[in-house]
Amino acid sequence: MAIRHVAKLGDPVLRQRAQEIPHEKIRSEEIQRLIDDMQDTIEVYEGIGLAAPQVHESVRLFITRDVYDPAEENRLLLPAQVVINPTIKFLTQNESTYWEGCLSIPDLRGMVPRPNKIQVTGYDRDGRKIKFDAEGFAATVVQHENDHLDGIVFLDRMADLKSLAFLKEFERHVAAAPEEIAD
Ligand code: NI
Repeated sequence: MAIRHVAKLGDPVLRQRAQEIPHEKIRSEEIQRLIDDMQDTIEVYEGIGLAAPQVHESVRLFITRDVYDPAEENRLLLPAQVVINPTIKFLTQNESTYWEGCLSIPDLRGMVPRPNKIQVTGYDRDGRKIKFDAEGFAATVVQHENDHLDGIVFLDRMADLKSLAFLKEFERHVAAAPEEIAD
């Protein structure tokens, strides 16, 4: 296990479409090690989600840690996931707006509207088919990570750039007024 270096905005790996992982390769030592390393990396960087291209591996795989409701900290929305070759289906056209950040775009926060209920299908690290629904902030986290597999970052999804803030200013002016976080 090892901590991997996280690619930062401007690195072309973040703008490529990542490749599918052939099913027979999911249980390979290489992919299993990548998943272990991503789990170490996300913990050290204190991320909530991490996609393989962010650690310079252009393959369709992301992980998320336990996702809690930002409005209600003890409410678990989605337990930790490893998702390989994901497909996202929108279950609604209703959107929610949440503040997002990204380990590849450090120290910035911005408000991003996204569909607020999705169904995710893919494979787990053992190559078994998985299917789950994600709602609210969990839907946002999954879409953010899935976007990385298509070379998309959260800045591309912002309705406008006016909410973009440095973390320090975000904490001073916005996080102090939590009722302003979600619309
Ligand atoms: Ni990100």
